[in-house]
Parts: sequence; structure tokens; C-alpha cells
Amino acid sequence: AEVIILPDAEAAGVIAADAIAELILADPHAVLGVATGSTPLTTYRALAARVRDDAIDVSNVQAFALDEYVGLPVDHVESYHSVIRREVTEQLGLTPELVHVPDGSLDGIRTAGDAYEALIVEAGGVDLQILGIGTTGHIGFNEPGSSLASTTRWKTLTEQTRIDNARFFDSPEQVPTHCITQGLGTIMRARHLVLLAFGEGKADAVAGAVEGPIGSSLPGSAIQLHPHVSVIVDEAAASKLA
Ligand code: F6R
Repeated sequence: AEVIILPDAEAAGVIAADAIAELILADPHAVLGVATGSTPLTTYRALAARVRDDAIDVSNVQAFALDEYVGLPVDHVESYHSVIRREVTEQLGLTPELVHVPDGSLDGIRTAGDAYEALIVEAGGVDLQILGIGTTGHIGFNEPGSSLASTTRWKTLTEQTRIDNARFFDSPEQVPTHCITQGLGTIMRARHLVLLAFGEGKADAVAGAVEGPIGSSLPGSAIQLHPHVSVIVDEAAASKLA
């Protein structure tokens, strides 16, 4: 992977946003893979600014979210349907029909994973996938133990991830216990992976992903098998790299 160390999340967001903007300028029908959580927010903000300043036509851009909670109504303010609508679709001005989030409803338990895989294939695959990384080493919500070949499916969130994400909810008990997430195999089929991480709390996960042994105990290590990865981090997140 190419590792780019920048002073802060703002500077990192500009670099990631520029890569996405260049992609869209080269191919107005580009397919983006988008993450939720705190990490990509500076990227989305910087990209929104570039789209505005350079009048970039994003009306044909497609986007696929990595994951969704199971058991939250889609209109819950913290569902990833809601988060992606606020932070990505509305902020960038994407066409809502072209932005996809996996179906975390009980109705989809048997079918939603395969349906999502089919939708990504139909779109021609993801050109550029934005990734954050969890303190557990997860990418998407592929927690330790996830198969390197996995596709979109239901998973159980680790206790640590529920604690990490409790800040988005009124109490830790309100964080869902399950999710639907693209698999590591799904993520690996994206043509360019851009992994972002900031802060000391991510240093171990980043070192494990970039330099550690490849395996399911640190799912982010799967990126070492990908031919085109950019890791964009601040000093603190880079502090445990060799
Ligand atoms: C989000 C996702 C997760 C997050 C990770 C880091 O869609 O798939 O892998 O990227 O949990 O979360 P933050 O950025 O909030 O630290």
C-alpha cells in the first residue's frame, strides 16, 4: 500500500476528496464505495466543496454504502440509510436513486446480501472504495473472524465496536447487536481502496492492517492482498507503523 501521512483529518480529507473528484471528472458514471462513521466526514466535506467550486457533474455517480445496522428502522437518525443520505447524498448532491445501502430489515434476512452483491455487479463494480477501520481491525463491519472471501451478509457486532459506536446513541444498549455488511471479498473487488484513519486509538489497527500478518483476526489486513491501496493517516494513527 502507499501510505500517506498528513498533519490532520482536514488535510487527509482534501487528498481523498481530490482522488474522488479526479475519478468523477474522468468518468461521470463512476461508482463510489462509501463508509459511515466519523473518519470519512472531512473527505465528504472537502468533496462537496470541490463539487461546488468546480461545478462537477455528479448526477450520474453511483454510490454503495459498506454496511447497515440490523434492527433500526431506516428512518432512525443513526441508521446508515439516514447517515448516508445526510453526509453523502445530500451534501454532495448525488441522485438519490443511485445511492445504495444494504437492507438491514428482518424481511431481508435471507435475500438482502445476495441482492446487494448483484446490484454492485450490475453497476460494474466499485471504482473507489472509501474505508475507515475499527479499533478491532474491522473494515466494513467485518469483525475479527471474518472470512477473507466473504460477501455481503449479516454479522454480529463485537462488544468493542458497540462501545466505540455508543457515542452516536443515547446509551450503549441502544447500539444494535447485528449488522449487514459487505464482505472482505466484496471490498477486495473494488478497484482502488482508500483507507483513512485518524488518532492514536487507530494506531494498532493501522499497523496490523498495513504490516501485520494477513488473516481474519485482523480483517483490515486483507488490504495487503489488494494491488491498489492508498492509506491516508495522521501522525497519531501512523505511530505504530515500522
Ligand atoms: C462504517 C464502517 C466501519 C467504520 C469504522 C471506523 O461504514 O464500515 O468500518 O469505518 O468502524 O469508524 P469511525 O470512523 O467512526 O472511527
